[in-house]
Amino acid sequence: MTNTSTQATDRRRPTEVSARFARSAWFRQDRFGMFIHWGPYAVPARGEWLRSQEQVSVEDYQFAVDGFGAEDYDPQAWAELAEAAGMKYAVLTAKHHDGFCLFDSALTEYGSMHNGIGRDLVREFLDAFRARGIKVGLYYSLLDWHRPDYPHYGDFIHPERENPAFADHRPDLESYRRYMHGQIKELCTNYGQMDILWFDFSYEGMGPQEWGAQELIDTVRALQPTALIDNRLEADGGGPGSIVTDAPTDYSGDFASPEQLIPVDGICAEDGSPVPWEACITINNNWGYTAGDDLWKSPEQLITKLVECVAKGGNLLLNVGPDPRGRIQPEAVERLHAIGAWLSANGESVHGAGPAGLETPEWGYYTRSGNTLYAHVLRAPIGPLALTGGLDKDSIARISLLADGRELQLCDAWVVKSYPDIPFVQFGEVGHFTYPLADPIDTVVKIELVEAPGAVQPA
Ligand code: GLC
Repeated sequence: MTNTSTQATDRRRPTEVSARFARSAWFRQDRFGMFIHWGPYAVPARGEWLRSQEQVSVEDYQFAVDGFGAEDYDPQAWAELAEAAGMKYAVLTAKHHDGFCLFDSALTEYGSMHNGIGRDLVREFLDAFRARGIKVGLYYSLLDWHRPDYPHYGDFIHPERENPAFADHRPDLESYRRYMHGQIKELCTNYGQMDILWFDFSYEGMGPQEWGAQELIDTVRALQPTALIDNRLEADGGGPGSIVTDAPTDYSGDFASPEQLIPVDGICAEDGSPVPWEACITINNNWGYTAGDDLWKSPEQLITKLVECVAKGGNLLLNVGPDPRGRIQPEAVERLHAIGAWLSANGESVHGAGPAGLETPEWGYYTRSGNTLYAHVLRAPIGPLALTGGLDKDSIARISLLADGRELQLCDAWVVKSYPDIPFVQFGEVGHFTYPLADPIDTVVKIELVEAPGAVQPA
């Protein structure tokens, strides 16, 4: 759906959806979070799907469990890095598809309390990030390749899906739901207020009915009424599920979770109202630690993609995959610091900002926060910058460079006389001169608008 809505309201959707929209107010302000994929799959260092992709048995995976030592785990340092990057929330994998638990579960010993680490890695993560005022969430895999009662042979993605030795295996979904629901109840009961529960993911043959999604969401909403839930109790990483319809289910989630892609036009419902969304994206190309994956996204790309998400009404959840000892790779650290440095000068154009309700300009993006627009200039103009997109010149009260507050002037030089209705900004004294952009990555022009009575605040 194209997000053309400039009046970000839910008045035309059922009241419940409006209440649901209100629950995500902090999320739509914070805009930028850290995703952390960590577990035994870091030991073979070929990504978190190793067991499925290479059809590795539970027994043959044990070396990874034994080798996962977390010797250098320092969640305080992780939290410090997230804060330095300008990340306002963080989501850690409490249990990924391999079924290994980074938390203390009474329902299994397959986890960090019993594999030699002897630590509740989730609790230490939650304590460290909360201590820095960073909101916290846990990723929990709905599927579990370690559980004997989970579907094996013939499943869409299970490691033993083609193994004849499992041809007679019969899953016991009732037993599996008791286990999975029991663990989610543990996470919702034993670890304080959860800001996000990030379930992953529904796929062919395993969906809301199999997960017991209605019962599960009722439990979560009762135990953690303010927690935001993603849409994957009924969706996968590609489609939004019923959250974009006029009749979302109880388990459609509070936000859509597009993955490894930024939605072309943002995400909105069938009636045009905004749907909260969060693009989850890896900083190289893998979620879990993957040696040799050196295709690191540049700081420039990461900063401009964060801005693109906000301009389209969404969030960016940027992933790091620590190594088996708990160290975040220096290439990732370097990029997070670069993002944080840019945000330290330009953060108000991202945090607390959203779509501007203007057509996207050819030189970059607009974001908006209340009565202030931000022009994110990614491509330098020849001469003055045309503030295209429908901005009325008379609505502008003040223009400045966000990073240093330097006042800028509207241009009335001869070069713009063919465009009387378009405001132009000059970046120096002489109106028709071309000046280098102050910031080669994204130069943000702050445009303070004349107070318009009854202006509708964007989502
Ligand atoms: C996909 C991957 C999973 C990853 C998730 C993150 O579902 O299968 O490994 O954790 O995306 O969004």
